[in-house]
Amino acid sequence: MTTALSVPLHLPESATAARPSPERGAPCTMVILGASGDLTRRKLVPALFHLMADGRLADDFSILGVGRARMGDDAFRDTMRTAAAESLGEEMGAPETWETFAARLEYHAGDLNDASTYAALRERVEALEQESESRGGPPRGRLFYLALPPSVYETTLVRLSESGLAPRLDVPDRLPWARIVIEKPFGHSLESAQALNRVVCARFAEHQIFRIDHFLGKDTVQNLLVFRFANSIFEPVWNRDHIHHVQITAAETVGVGSRAGYYEEAGVVRDMFQNHLLQLLALTAMEPPVAFRDEAVRTEKTKVLDAMRPMSPEEVQRSAVRGQYGRGAIDGKPVRGYLEEDRVAPASMTPTYAAVRLVVDNWRWQGVPFFLRSGKRMSRRATEIAIRFRHPPHLMFPQSAGQRLPSNVLAFRIQPDEGLSLCFEVKVPDIDLQMATANMDFSYAEGFGTSAHSAYETLLVDCMLGDATLFTRSDAVEAAWRVVDPILAAWEESPPPGFPNYAAGSRGPAAADDLIARDDAVWRSP
Ligand code: BG6
Repeated sequence: MTTALSVPLHLPESATAARPSPERGAPCTMVILGASGDLTRRKLVPALFHLMADGRLADDFSILGVGRARMGDDAFRDTMRTAAAESLGEEMGAPETWETFAARLEYHAGDLNDASTYAALRERVEALEQESESRGGPPRGRLFYLALPPSVYETTLVRLSESGLAPRLDVPDRLPWARIVIEKPFGHSLESAQALNRVVCARFAEHQIFRIDHFLGKDTVQNLLVFRFANSIFEPVWNRDHIHHVQITAAETVGVGSRAGYYEEAGVVRDMFQNHLLQLLALTAMEPPVAFRDEAVRTEKTKVLDAMRPMSPEEVQRSAVRGQYGRGAIDGKPVRGYLEEDRVAPASMTPTYAAVRLVVDNWRWQGVPFFLRSGKRMSRRATEIAIRFRHPPHLMFPQSAGQRLPSNVLAFRIQPDEGLSLCFEVKVPDIDLQMATANMDFSYAEGFGTSAHSAYETLLVDCMLGDATLFTRSDAVEAAWRVVDPILAAWEESPPPGFPNYAAGSRGPAAADDLIARDDAVWRSP
């Protein structure tokens, strides 16, 4: 018999007690390129405002938004206020707090393909710097955020460099620092990522480049590092001798929404696997870094990606499943299929779901499959990493015919209901010997209350401080493309099997169950 028991976990008082005073971002002028876009409205400005309200930004700080839309500073401030209010709700706080923030917001309308825009921008940035210095402020760094379509990254990087706005800083300069944040997707394939890296490396030092993956800013993702390397109980069993397989799931209930223009080009593998899921895999599988420092952590993560076995076209047939959602229902409400979404080609072959079996060819992980899956319009929203341990080598307790011993599973719930759980077998209190599965659960909300900061807030402060630990290095980006490129290539060669092949609101295509069953495993229902 197996019955799930719940063992609540209580944190000692000290866990929630006051911590050392937090770091603040360094003095800087932040230039958001693409300031009239969705990312700026939904993520960046709410994150920056919240950081300022929380005392996490330097006093010497300005934001200069740049976009095509013709508007003045005040119109930009109004648009951003509406956006921040939508995103933060009651957390907007007193109107004066917004006014303090708005006073630091400026806007410049211009075409980013045009060199004269950068000359004008340079003047405005220098004016802000001089104004700050004249008030006795410290020298300011420059932070450029590319909130732009990837197709214009290259031109923008070249122009930033040529205009002197973002000089290459290998040696001390008048500027304390100049950094560039580049959003995903970094490239469309290995070849295009390499080409973009060549542009980047020719014009900037690697320490100036922050390739952002917002998953790495999530507390629960960073907790993976703390859990693995600040505890000693699991590390001895974190290997092929004890782990049967690893499952990494990122299931979403949302569809493609208004992003079909981008998604039609990207599909689920470029959108979720090349970055978020492979980053989660690398954090799960890497060797202990010697320090929580950027190069130490990034080197270990890159080694994992480098050790991943490239898939042959035959292997892709066997070990990768793709899907596209059809009509269905989410939370009891009917929803459209992918092909009926706005701006989707009527016969689109873009996958919105994928499940893949990957292998890490090194000593620690030889023979341990890593199953990754992600899909839009799934039955539930859940992102988790689950480690399934091996069965005991010999079971001394009798079992009835057909009964199977459940496995110990350690699951990191990245979102929602952030936390982790460990399942293990216990004896049911009775005269007979019967076993049940107990579930020891830690909930972030119960232990610490809801998280006060978004992933973007964490990552923006890190950029301002020059801490690249949670950002992706050029070699890691390329290594990740090396893993997914063969899958993309094989799928481009062969048409998909009867799309749409899963209903919105379902668990995904049945073929994904067969894929994992071949390794004597089943997908968890997170
Ligand atoms: C983005 C993808 O990077 O991550 C989206 O482009 C996806 O398609 C999103 O929905 C998921 O992020 P989160 O933080 O909402 O899980």
